[in-house]
Amino acid sequence: MTGRVAGKTVLISGGGRGMGAAHARRLVSEGARVVIGDVLVDEAEALVAELGPDVAMAVRLDVTDYENWRRVVDEATARFGHPDVLVNNAGIFTRGDAEIADIEEWRRTIDIDLTGVFLGTKAVITGMKRKGAGSIINISSIAGLVGFKNRAAYAAAKWGVVGLTKTSALDFGEFGIRVNAVHPGSVRTPLTAGLERGFGQIPLGRDAAADEVSQLILFLASDESSFCTGGSFAVDGGETAGNNLRADA
Ligand SMILES: NC(=O)c1ccc[n+]([C@@H]2O[C@H](COP(=O)([O-])OP(=O)(O)OC[C@H]3O[C@@H](n4cnc5c(N)ncnc54)[C@H](O)[C@@H]3O)[C@@H](O)[C@H]2O)c1
Repeated sequence: MTGRVAGKTVLISGGGRGMGAAHARRLVSEGARVVIGDVLVDEAEALVAELGPDVAMAVRLDVTDYENWRRVVDEATARFGHPDVLVNNAGIFTRGDAEIADIEEWRRTIDIDLTGVFLGTKAVITGMKRKGAGSIINISSIAGLVGFKNRAAYAAAKWGVVGLTKTSALDFGEFGIRVNAVHPGSVRTPLTAGLERGFGQIPLGRDAAADEVSQLILFLASDESSFCTGGSFAVDGGETAGNNLRADA
């Protein structure tokens, strides 16, 4: 096997479509075996049919259910070996400021976007400790680097992901386990397909293709990032660098 992540088993939550699917394609092209966990089972299975059953498997995973996580890790381990890498990618966004946000939508957003990351970490950590190595990649957002208008629950969850990331980096570093957060900006996926948004706020003046994020995931999954832990990596075309819309004086 050759490639930058040759021989590694990577579990990707929400890997059936969008960025998670792009990460799966990129990682397989560099020698990994991927486990695609999603509530969208048909999408996950279609991706496995594309990648090939020797290097990919699809499992039903609802990230809010710890028993489900345990079963997925057991199935992944039986087939490809215990995950070397976990990409906590599954996520949703909901709208609303603190005044108007629906309380049930708030709870659901926190449950999927933040508690899901905690449960995934909990499910893989003992096995990674046993191996003495691991890389956990938590997908936050630029909404976890700055405030985000009209996204109270989403921003709170994505900032929470950063807190859990840095804390887990401290807790598990001595076991050779690295934990990092990734902060995508505007990326073309099914999640953002319905959004009307301009790109003037982005210094590079455009949105990203999903694979542009996958390149960073590949680096963090590989041993090339062996000294990176507790980090926050923006892949946002400069969107959080400053106010790109400020008028010239
Ligand atoms: N697209 C963007 O511009 C953008 C920007 C910043 C951060 N993000 C984050 O990147 C991640 C991926 O987003 P995307 O744009 O590819 O979205 P997407 O909607 O295309 O993909 C998300 C995947 O997560 C799955 N999912 C949702 N709830 C789940 C659950 N309870 N259990 C398991 N799987 C579940 C969905 O079925 C879907 O396959 C998310 O965490 C999102 O918040 C996206």
